[in-house]
Amino acid sequence: MSRSGFRIAPSLLSADFARLGEEVRDVIAAGADLVHFDVMDNHYVPNLTVGPLVCEAIRPHCSVPIDVHLMVKPVDRIIPDFARAGASIISFHPEASEHVDRTLGLIHEVGCKAGLVFNPATPLSYLEHVIDKVDLVLLMSVNPGFGGQSFIPSALEKLAAARRRIDASGRDIWLEVDGGVKADNIEAIARAGADTFVAGSAIFGAKDRAGVIRAMRESLKRATMAA
Ligand code: DX5
Ligand code: ZN
Repeated sequence: MSRSGFRIAPSLLSADFARLGEEVRDVIAAGADLVHFDVMDNHYVPNLTVGPLVCEAIRPHCSVPIDVHLMVKPVDRIIPDFARAGASIISFHPEASEHVDRTLGLIHEVGCKAGLVFNPATPLSYLEHVIDKVDLVLLMSVNPGFGGQSFIPSALEKLAAARRRIDASGRDIWLEVDGGVKADNIEAIARAGADTFVAGSAIFGAKDRAGVIRAMRESLKRATMAA
């Protein structure tokens, strides 16, 4: 975790895929706490990206945890492959699993942290009976499938509700947000309760990536000051 208690997770979706190893090293040197790895199957979401083979290929370049976001259906079959490929965290969408409790167990069995992902319209009630098995709650602030979309404002209220549930559970669960996160809205997002921030286009699209991450950390510092 970064010294501030917040984590910044650049999403490789906006990286140059022809130079992925170099991109991973560059963004870690720029200050990334995690590397966010978006897996899309052209079935659960309308886009197709990368699988375990590419995860394994970036692993030697990656000195921070790999945060795998599965946007695939079904999910269970592919989980051990990602564990072998070097994932530290594996998150999935509950609608993409027939048996959410079993999928969470499977992720733990292969030695990874387990995350549950909520689309903008997915209710937090999915957490109700499994919160004791969840290590990370990932709230989508865009509809999944593409980088570069705008942050959906209602995600702020949902983050606050998720934060309340997490605090009430008494467990150390990370609250991650994904989609449209930029240096100019990250303070409000942190104030709503997020502690882990995925940012694709904002970081990879910038010439000065270290500068963007620094600006994000400055905003996060403000978020910890009295409201
Ligand atoms: C969207 C992906 C995100 C995406 C975020 O489905 O899950 O991780 O890369 O991209 P930005 O930060 O550009 O919205
Ligand atoms: Zn993602």
